[in-house]
Amino acid sequence: MKSTEQLAVTKNISGNGNGFDPEVIRRDFPIFKRKINGRRLIYLDSAATTQKPNAVIDVIDRYYKFQNANVHRGLHTLAEEATTAFEATRDKVAKFIGGVKREEIIYTRNATEAINLVAQSWGQANIKKGDRIVITQMEHHANLVPWIVLSRKTGAELVYIPITPDGFLDLKDIGKIISANTKMVALTQMSNVLGTINPVEDIIDLAHKRGAVTLVDGAQSVPHLPIDVRAMDADFLAFSAHKMLGPTGLGFLYGKEEILNNMEPVVFGGEMISEVKFDYADWNALPYKFEAGTPHIAGAIAFGSALDYLNALGMENIRNHEKGLIAYALEKMKELDFIKIYGPLDSERRGGGVSFNDKDIHPHDLATFLDMMGIAVRAGHHCAQPLTRLFGVNATTRASFYIYNTINDIDALITGLKEARRYFKYE
Ligand SMILES: Cc1ncc(COP(=O)(O)O)c(C=O)c1O
Repeated sequence: MKSTEQLAVTKNISGNGNGFDPEVIRRDFPIFKRKINGRRLIYLDSAATTQKPNAVIDVIDRYYKFQNANVHRGLHTLAEEATTAFEATRDKVAKFIGGVKREEIIYTRNATEAINLVAQSWGQANIKKGDRIVITQMEHHANLVPWIVLSRKTGAELVYIPITPDGFLDLKDIGKIISANTKMVALTQMSNVLGTINPVEDIIDLAHKRGAVTLVDGAQSVPHLPIDVRAMDADFLAFSAHKMLGPTGLGFLYGKEEILNNMEPVVFGGEMISEVKFDYADWNALPYKFEAGTPHIAGAIAFGSALDYLNALGMENIRNHEKGLIAYALEKMKELDFIKIYGPLDSERRGGGVSFNDKDIHPHDLATFLDMMGIAVRAGHHCAQPLTRLFGVNATTRASFYIYNTINDIDALITGLKEARRYFKYE
């Protein structure tokens, strides 16, 4: 039997639980050998996508060079190897999010597609006029637009949990908002703009008491926090591989088996059927009925290595590392009277990303200036237009951290923010 081990590149992971050292971790990421505008690359855009370690890149390279074959369909050695490795990642994902059944893990292209699958399949079948869908004001468009479309199509009302000025969910009317006619409560566990970590367990508990189904957008939380979806009791969880060291074009939907079993596929074709006649088609068992067509095989196998890498570092250690970084960043930024920070100032209740604005410099100008210094940040509405507007702006600058960021990176950012003021002649 050809095992996954043969596909995975054995790699010494430089960091370890006790001696978490981002400077050492950086050496596993070839991109950090690059200079940007002649400077050390300071990558503060991991909320958009993370960099990839050799352990992941090498698996993709090796797969296409030596193991390329389609999955599930062949009886030859290459096809068997590819299938075994592809399915092994499904097992790793099931374990990573708290030990769920492998049938409950569906490969998608990204978190966006995972949420759309639920809105289109479960939503179209279960939501009707007079029902309520509840989301929050801090959703990424991926967990907002599918529900706008569903409410438009069905006539169901879409109600938002509001947020407080300091960037938390305002839960004082939650008992009324999640009403008896609420059928779906969908919310992010960690805001990609504000960094807020939401009390998803409490909200899910209330939603279940009202008979609603719940979806957690884990695009920002699964890469950064230890996740136990069973303890959380979410009915669905969506996330993307590329925000956690994996390749782009790969994501996951977790769904409770009994709910998935009662859902219809939304994409039809090869792989998702059990039997087809000229006038008949029946669906495959879980999880395959939702996986029509050839998947991102190389990406899936490589993502297994990404999970090995994260597991070796330890998700608790990753969380603690990022908590330290964000606490330091907030402390330093608070000293800058020209910087306004959006979102919670308490590092316990937020993740490792911070949105801010200079009172005079446009975020796009600021991001362009920082790039000249080798510092990659993001500027814009971060795919959460209604949220940024709520704060009275069209755009913010966002710095987001991951395992390879250091205190020095934050010091460089702070220096960059000060120098930008001089460059744009505000000082
Ligand atoms: C909170 C949140 N949800 C969903 C998404 C969508 O992820 P993807 O573009 O990988 O589908 C993102 C991406 O930034 C995000 O931050």
